Amino acid sequence: MTEQTPVTKTNAVKVPTLPDAQNVTEVKHYTDRLFSFKCTRPASLRFRSGEFVMIGLMGDPDPKTNRQKPLLRAYSIASPSWDEELEFYSIKVQDGPLTSKLQHIKSGDEIILRPKPVGTLVHDALLPGKRIWFFATGPGFAPFASLLRDPQTYEDYEEIIITHTCREVGELTYSRNIIASLKDDELLNEVIGDGFWKKIKYYPTTTRETSVKMGRITDLINSGAAYNDLGVAPLNPDNDRAMICGNLAFNLELKDMLEAAGLEEGANSKPAQYVVEKAFLD
Ligand SMILES: Cc1cc2nc3c(=O)[nH]c(=O)nc-3n(C[C@H](O)[C@H](O)[C@H](O)COP(=O)(O)OP(=O)(O)OC[C@H]3O[C@@H](n4cnc5c(N)ncnc54)[C@H](O)[C@@H]3O)c2cc1C
Ligand SMILES: NC(=O)c1ccc[n+]([C@@H]2O[C@H](COP(=O)([O-])OP(=O)(O)OC[C@H]3O[C@@H](n4cnc5c(N)ncnc54)[C@H](OP(=O)(O)O)[C@@H]3O)[C@@H](O)[C@H]2O)c1
Repeated sequence: MTEQTPVTKTNAVKVPTLPDAQNVTEVKHYTDRLFSFKCTRPASLRFRSGEFVMIGLMGDPDPKTNRQKPLLRAYSIASPSWDEELEFYSIKVQDGPLTSKLQHIKSGDEIILRPKPVGTLVHDALLPGKRIWFFATGPGFAPFASLLRDPQTYEDYEEIIITHTCREVGELTYSRNIIASLKDDELLNEVIGDGFWKKIKYYPTTTRETSVKMGRITDLINSGAAYNDLGVAPLNPDNDRAMICGNLAFNLELKDMLEAAGLEEGANSKPAQYVVEKAFLD
């Protein structure tokens, strides 16, 4: 007689209880490559605007053991540190292990969030200054969506310049919406005062689709066009502080430009004039 194994036990996929689960509360899609979502915030999570956490979903079951492991990736928190919910701004990589799945999340779904925030794009890593530049490409805008909604940004600086370079116009929608929403931000109006948003200069540019301003921000700064368009003085180490978040080549090019202008790189342990973080690993 062959031993019979109860079918339900061997073949059933174990439904995992997600570790560090948070509930998705809102999802917005901007292009076929970009979306944002909000989720609940763990009561114990404290973070500084500009930091990132590891988030993800359960991976596919291992074919041999049927066990699932969390599939996690680094994500900048796009919401400010005071917000009750958390917001993230995400790429959709069609064959990306995480985002091929994450792009299909809906309100009510669970995601995994490891509540250990870290990162260099924080005010603590910069020395006091008069003007701050936020330089972003693509989804690298995410940490600045957080910092632009943090009162400290307006308390610490007289002028805030945010540059966002993307390939196509649609890829600027999220940053445009965030900037437009600032005027009506109740907390910022109350804490900083009416008209605080006049401190912001937003400089969106595209490189592969016609828009009002075309070109890489690096080229526009090198040619002086960005200074002319914005009506501001060139970068100088006495007044200017900067944060950079984009692809590796962009980060390195801007780093060189800032160093050439006399700014020094800072860190949490040694604040200086600029900080930099990758928006993705390669
Ligand atoms: C410190 C840090 C913060 C990050 N914050 C964010 C964030 O706020 N939002 C976000 O979407 N991603 C962010 N990333 C990238 C993120 O960790 C993942 O790489 C991304 O979610 C894709 O995951 P994946 O598993 O689908 O594909 P992966 O295997 O991780 O990536 C596949 C390929 O897709 C491309 N790619 C990955 N991420 C991006 C991106 N953000 N923009 C453009 N191309 C990309 C790269 O060419 C990469 O080799 C961050 C990365 C780091 C290191
Ligand atoms: N965005 C898309 O529509 C699209 C579609 C399919 C696949 N992908 C792939 O997805 C990955 C990421 O694409 P992405 O568009 O999100 O990010 P990206 O390649 O980092 O480009 C974002 C923006 O940054 C600019 N840029 C790149 N390097 C720069 C540098 N050294 N200095 C200044 N500006 C720089 C780009 O200008 P340039 O245009 O001049 O490079 C573009 O405007 C790439 O591997 C890409 O092939 C993108």
